[in-house]
Amino acid sequence: MITLSHITKTFPASRRSPAVTALDDVSLTVARGQVMGVVGPSGSGKSTLARCINLLERPTSGTVTVDGEELTALPEQGLRSARRRIGMIFQQFNLLDSRTALANVEHPLELAGVGRAERRARATELLERVGLADKLHTHPAQLSGGQQQRVAIARALAPRPRVLLCDEATSALDPVSTDSILALIRQLTEELELTTVLITHEMPVVKRVCDAVTLLEHGRVVDAGLLSEVAARPDSPLATRLLPPAERLPDAGTASVVEVTVGDGTTGSLISELVRRYGVDVDVVGGAVESIGGTRFGRLQLAVDGPADQVRGALDHLALAHLELQGSTR
Ligand SMILES: Nc1ncnc2c1ncn2[C@@H]1O[C@H](COP(=O)(O)OP(=O)(O)OP(=O)(O)O)[C@@H](O)[C@H]1O
Ligand SMILES: [Mg+2]
Repeated sequence: MITLSHITKTFPASRRSPAVTALDDVSLTVARGQVMGVVGPSGSGKSTLARCINLLERPTSGTVTVDGEELTALPEQGLRSARRRIGMIFQQFNLLDSRTALANVEHPLELAGVGRAERRARATELLERVGLADKLHTHPAQLSGGQQQRVAIARALAPRPRVLLCDEATSALDPVSTDSILALIRQLTEELELTTVLITHEMPVVKRVCDAVTLLEHGRVVDAGLLSEVAARPDSPLATRLLPPAERLPDAGTASVVEVTVGDGTTGSLISELVRRYGVDVDVVGGAVESIGGTRFGRLQLAVDGPADQVRGALDHLALAHLELQGSTR
């Protein structure tokens, strides 16, 4: 588990540039076995956040706690061993070109003083785990981008970290490799009970693998929560980016058409409630349904027809339930 509490990071002014507050009072928790997505525009502090978790950057203030140990309280020596419990992968895979896949994965173990036989066994097992059993002796230049990222993942996992930080790990990959790397990250997080932070600028990546998501803007957390929670919250800045995009409302003759967001299995009960309470006719005339964080959400276009005051009552009902997103009333 990772807990960041009131993290602020200010880079001091230099001769050429003024001081920058890259992180401003950031607090967040990522549970073990969970993947937390971190999204936000360029320069919003995502990479700085990752570097503060493994203390490659020391926060100006605030505390970083990993699995109950407060890293920000450790002296430099203790920090070095604590960092081994935090693996990191990047957009550029940062493999050593002169070494084979196996030797790349062995490298961090070598630095940690692990003996040759144990190193080899561990690296072999990890490369098998990431699906590269037949590439042990291949050099990075002979591997595809996706395969190189697999080697980098195996290398990050070699010292048995508790935390995996991924900074734009799929941004240099084609869609098929992206999908398989994301599936691998998800699978390893579950199997090894890692706590994973996945930085990305792509919302589909968040939808595909994350349990929770944090939106940074100007170094501040402006939205955060479990995916299913965030998607269900009408005032959430992330909800609109998670849910299927709004469509142009179709014409439905004399009926009023409204677009609503509905959660798991509530479409039927919503429609029958409108029919029962307001005596209106309700027809689904468009929309899309998607699974977000294991919960099904729909953006549905409903055509509501009937006597004017009854239709008004039904539309007010939707507005009061914060379900209505846009409407065209006749
Ligand atoms: N070492 C540094 N010294 C000074 N300023 C820095 C340093 N590292 C980052 N910054 C500044 O901190 C802010 C946040 O940078 P950061 O790299 O964390 O953003 P990001 O969200 O990862 O952006 P991107 O999506 O482009 O990767 C930026 O304004 C950046 O210029
Ligand atoms: Mg970055």
